[in-house]
Amino acid sequence: MQTDILISVKKLTKVYGKGNLALKVLDVKNLEIRRGELVALTGPSGCGKTTLLNLLGALDRPTAGDIFFEGQRLALKREAALCGFRRKKIGFIFQAYHLIPTLSALKNVLAPAFPLGKDYRQRALELLRLVSLAGKEGRRPGELSGGEQQRVAIARALLLDPDLILADEPTGNLDSATGAGIMALLKNLNQRGKTVLVATHDQRVAEECDRKIRMMDGRISQ
Ligand SMILES: Nc1ncnc2c1ncn2[C@@H]1O[C@H](COP(=O)(O)OP(=O)(O)OP(=O)(O)O)[C@@H](O)[C@H]1O
Ligand SMILES: [Mg+2]
Repeated sequence: MQTDILISVKKLTKVYGKGNLALKVLDVKNLEIRRGELVALTGPSGCGKTTLLNLLGALDRPTAGDIFFEGQRLALKREAALCGFRRKKIGFIFQAYHLIPTLSALKNVLAPAFPLGKDYRQRALELLRLVSLAGKEGRRPGELSGGEQQRVAIARALLLDPDLILADEPTGNLDSATGAGIMALLKNLNQRGKTVLVATHDQRVAEECDRKIRMMDGRISQ
C-alpha cells in the first residue's frame, strides 16, 4: 500500500560500548518523514545526527527500536536484503565525499551499479550534466574542486534513483557560495520528487528546508 509516510521511527536507541562504558548516544521516541519532504536535521556536534542518518540509511543497526520504511520494518531484513534496500531506496551523500581517488568522475558515479552489471553509462552522463559537470567526466577527484567532488558524490547518490536522499553535512567542507550551489541542487532534486533529509550546522541550509528537526544529546528536542 502506498502511504505518504516514507519513514517512521519508534523508540529508536543506539548504545555504544558495553557495561560501565555503555553510552546511549541516540534515543528517538518518534519521528516521521513524509514522502516529498525536505527536512533539516540540526543540533550541536555530537548530538547524534550522523548516528541517526546511518540508522535510517541502514548503514548501521539500532540497539533497540524500529525503523519502518514504506511500512516495512528494516530490522526484519537480512543483510543481503538490507544491501538491496540501501542500493535501491537510499542515496547517501557523505560530508567527506568518499569518492574513489583512482577512478574518473564518471566511474565514481557508476560505482553503485557495478555489481549489477547493467549499462548505466548514459544515465551517469546525464546526472553529471544535471550537476553541471559536463566536460569533466574524465577527471579524477584530485583534479576537481571540493564543490565539484561533492557534486560527483550527489550524482553517484542519484544513479539508482533512490526515494530518499540522506545528506550528512553536504556543505560542511565548502565555502558559502559553493555550499549555496549544493543546497540549490538538493532543493531542485526535492522539487523533482525526492525526499531529502540533510544534517547540517549551517543555519542558511536549515532555513531553506520545509521543516527543521533539532537534536540535543541524542534526542529530538523540537
Ligand atoms: N563508533 C562509535 N563508538 C563510540 N561512540 C561513538 C561512535 N560513533 C559516534 N559516537 C558518539 O556518539 C555521539 C553522536 O555522534 P554523531 O557522529 O552521531 O554526532 P553528530 O551529531 O553527527 O556530530 P557532528 O555534528 O560533529 O557530525 C558522539 O558523542 C560520538 O562521540
Ligand atoms: Mg555528524
